[in-house]
Amino acid sequence: MKLTRLGHAAVLLEGEATVLIDPFLTDNPLASVRPEDLPHIDIIVVTHDHFDHFGDTVEIAKKFGSELVAVHEICQKKEVTDSGIKATGMNIGGTYQVRGIGINLTPAIHSVGGSDAAGVVVSINGKNVYHAGDTALFSDMQLIKDLAGPIDIALLPIGGHFTMDVSAAAKAAELLGAEITIPIHYNTWPPIEADPKQLEQIYNGAVAILDPGQSYEIGE
Ligand code: NI
Ligand code: MN
Repeated sequence: MKLTRLGHAAVLLEGEATVLIDPFLTDNPLASVRPEDLPHIDIIVVTHDHFDHFGDTVEIAKKFGSELVAVHEICQKKEVTDSGIKATGMNIGGTYQVRGIGINLTPAIHSVGGSDAAGVVVSINGKNVYHAGDTALFSDMQLIKDLAGPIDIALLPIGGHFTMDVSAAAKAAELLGAEITIPIHYNTWPPIEADPKQLEQIYNGAVAILDPGQSYEIGE
């Protein structure tokens, strides 16, 4: 399974199927790819309904016939229902199996008008990838591995201001106990400037810093 960071919180997983999480590419100053240059996308997961996460969802789903998976209210947005794209609404705590992949929405502490914010564990090629979405630190993060199984890769926001900062993310990484922790959601704009190397310094576990466009491969 190959994970590619596309900039900000956008991440592409290529394995048994292709899963695109939080596809904010157009207007993303750090995007490593344009929507029209993406490979075929089977599934789009949106953690919450902010522009820097919902992003190019509709355009990409229309192009590839991708299935949107998100909390119910995002799938009920007029923009989504009007577009005719396939959208499967679910909710926090639930798991949806599609194309051999498991999608489990987890809690997140973050304000969103009209719907709740989530994180997600994507189980793909026998690996668990946790994308925290936008969130503050919360102690129940330690339960995610108990429910989903050991976490292979944790993608954690470190930019602060709207989410955890580096020191909170280091604490989150401890609670999650992932094999590898990859920082996201930083340096896109001035309010979320952060140095990902600080995470390596204060967190006593493995960190992989991926610049936009860089990939990390794990297992088959
Ligand atoms: Ni947000
Ligand atoms: Mn955000």
